[in-house]
Amino acid sequence: MRLNSPQINIITKACNKASRSLIRDFGEIENLQVSAKGPGDFVTSADKRTEKTIIDELQRAHPDYGIITEESGMINKSNIKNRWIIDPIDGTMNFLNGIPHFAISIAYEEDGEIKCGVIFDPIKNEMFCAEKGNGAYLNNSRIRVSNKKKLKDSLLVTGGPKYLSKIKDQIFTEFVSVSKNTESPIRKFGSAALDVAYVACGRFDGYWQRELKYWDIAAGIIILREAGGFVDFFETDNKEPLKKNILASNSNIHDELSDLIIKKNIE
Ligand code: IPD
Ligand code: CA
Ligand code: CA
Repeated sequence: MRLNSPQINIITKACNKASRSLIRDFGEIENLQVSAKGPGDFVTSADKRTEKTIIDELQRAHPDYGIITEESGMINKSNIKNRWIIDPIDGTMNFLNGIPHFAISIAYEEDGEIKCGVIFDPIKNEMFCAEKGNGAYLNNSRIRVSNKKKLKDSLLVTGGPKYLSKIKDQIFTEFVSVSKNTESPIRKFGSAALDVAYVACGRFDGYWQRELKYWDIAAGIIILREAGGFVDFFETDNKEPLKKNILASNSNIHDELSDLIIKKNIE
């Protein structure tokens, strides 16, 4: 891999360290599923433990950097120049159910711009990473988005809606309208980070989802861009800057997909 900024090295080390206990914890899930209590609390503590390992590693290198995390919120809030953005386990429901499809996601932002990111699937041992200007990689191989030209021939993925979403109907309507325009049924894999990573390496041609959080996709954004993909944030809510609606795809199908999802203001 030809990525060598200090930050990517720090992130990679943190991912590797955190993944060791995460893999062990995942091995326990099967036993817990048959237990009376179920794996719920155990997963919550695995999530917290993973996040703590990551934060400790990142802070050892840069105690002053800001951190946005899913479990612990904001750390060093006043530092908005240098920030880590962490999701310790993206795909918690998969993890909880013993489905081997989840990832650690960590990005680094400088002056509000994402400079590098890593998405690590510890079970498949797949590390997606990218650094601004230096391309995107899956383990040691350079990755690129697919070259699919038409939405009809594309394999798409989405996620949601969340149980408490107030726009469930809209989300389902969009799903129907995109479904009617693709031959292959739309996938739902349950990890936004891996969904974006899979678009970046050409496994999927496009992905969209509403009501995500910044930590779900921060690393994915730089990985996808460096792999030649397109990212759109639509209908952003300035009052909730961490909430994101995203459309991510290869550049060929981007317009066709966004026409079906993003409402145009037609006078
Ligand atoms: C979730 C996953 C899922 C997406 C949800 C996210 P979590 O993150 O990314 O694919 O549909 O909106 O909250 O809770 O597993 O970290
Ligand atoms: Ca997440
Ligand atoms: Ca999570």
